[in-house]
Amino acid sequence: MPTLAKPWTDAVLAAETERYLTDATFRREVLEASLTNPDNVYAMTRLSGYGLEGRGWEMLPEWTPTTTVIDDDYVAALQSGAPVTIAAHAEPLWDGKSPENMSQWVALGKRVFYEYPLRSEVFAEHALRSEKLAGSIGLQPDENGVWPGVIAFQTLDGASEIGITCALCHVSLDEGSSIVGEARRDLDYGEMRLAYYRDTGATLAEDVRARMSRWGPGRADITQDDDEDPVAIVDLWGVRDHEYLTQSGTIHQIHPAALAIRQETQLLHANQERIRPPRELAWALAMYVYSLTPPEMQAAPLTAAETRGKELFSQHCNHCHRDKNHGGLPVAAASIGTDPVLANGSARGTGLYRPTPLTRVANAAPYLHDGTVRTLESLLDAKRSIPGHRYGTKLPKADRDALVAFMETL
Ligand code: HEC
Ligand code: HEC
Repeated sequence: MPTLAKPWTDAVLAAETERYLTDATFRREVLEASLTNPDNVYAMTRLSGYGLEGRGWEMLPEWTPTTTVIDDDYVAALQSGAPVTIAAHAEPLWDGKSPENMSQWVALGKRVFYEYPLRSEVFAEHALRSEKLAGSIGLQPDENGVWPGVIAFQTLDGASEIGITCALCHVSLDEGSSIVGEARRDLDYGEMRLAYYRDTGATLAEDVRARMSRWGPGRADITQDDDEDPVAIVDLWGVRDHEYLTQSGTIHQIHPAALAIRQETQLLHANQERIRPPRELAWALAMYVYSLTPPEMQAAPLTAAETRGKELFSQHCNHCHRDKNHGGLPVAAASIGTDPVLANGSARGTGLYRPTPLTRVANAAPYLHDGTVRTLESLLDAKRSIPGHRYGTKLPKADRDALVAFMETL
């Protein structure tokens, strides 16, 4: 199995670049070895298309999009009825030269994260054209007057359209300040789509409407299947240390190529399997994700309550939440007892849930994979109505408070 021992320092990552870029057999091996459940739709789609020499997705044309960043002026023009256009001087977001060091890889990955469209999205265009709608579903400018997550790009057919990017879900915004890697928990992706159908009168099947209206902010169903399993957007802190990726542990991150392949196939699949991103861009995107760190916290010695909470955590929580980020190896969903739909779903189910990494967990509400528990206090409250994850709920109030106090330091 092509496993790379951790820790993955930048030097270790850099040494693996060539293999991912040039060795199709290696990529195929990593794909096969990294899929936790080869029988879910996520895995089957990839096994049938990826890393096959001379066939499958290998044959798709590489595509580097030409994009124009959406800023306040651009949005003002859209709101006064202007068509979507690409700036006259716009160039493809990558010049085709392979980066030479880690900081160049990360810089390229940042561009991909902000600018490579997952697909064209009329719903986002519609929302941008209405000041009120944009704000109410979580589209906003950042500190530079740029609107992360939406981009104007030139399609394969030469049209100019609005597309969505990684930054739509993975950059949080609060009145002009942005945190890259933090889940955009006020993004109401379901409502963004529903508003389009409502306002344009386009037809939408009643069951689809009902599903989308149940997502609410901070959750999205990012798989195209019939399962109803919207999940909470996750923070991208410490991803290079995660043993497994996604909340149902769909991908065993045995090698950085496992993340690069996830990103390569996500971009390819989301773009209707008409193109594939150059491998350099997928690798760069993985390096950028690995570079993300949470906002600094003021270092302070633990208080008495926090120290007590830390002890309780090692008694009651550590056997699952045991790694560097207080996450851990996936466990049977049935034993956790939370809503099993995602874990058992045909889309990316594994029968498992991953103990959630707890870095900056105080800012990560609502909790659990489906975002159903509002506060840390209620997660530890025996009287809560949401089922599952009963750990710590039988402890006396003072101990539960101490656990919360400790988690707030993470
Ligand atoms: C529409 C919202 C949305 C967009 C756009 C999006 N993601 Fe995500 N992302 C999610 C959700 C929701 C999850 C959680 C999935 C799960 O747990 O099954 C996730 C999970 C992830 C993970 C796994 C993290 C972990 O802890 O396991 C990574 C890495 C990631 N996304 C990176 C990206 C990148 C890179 C892009 C752009 C190519 C992107 N995402 C685009 C919503 C989105
Ligand atoms: C048997 C393994 C196990 C034990 C023991 C355990 N957890 Fe968890 N924890 C999980 C799993 C799995 C999840 C994800 C469940 C889901 O999303 O449905 C989780 C999720 C969480 C979350 C949600 C984080 C978020 O951002 O959504 C918090 C907080 C948490 N655990 C804290 C604790 C605390 C505190 C304890 C000890 C009192 C504890 N856990 C004990 C496995 C465990």
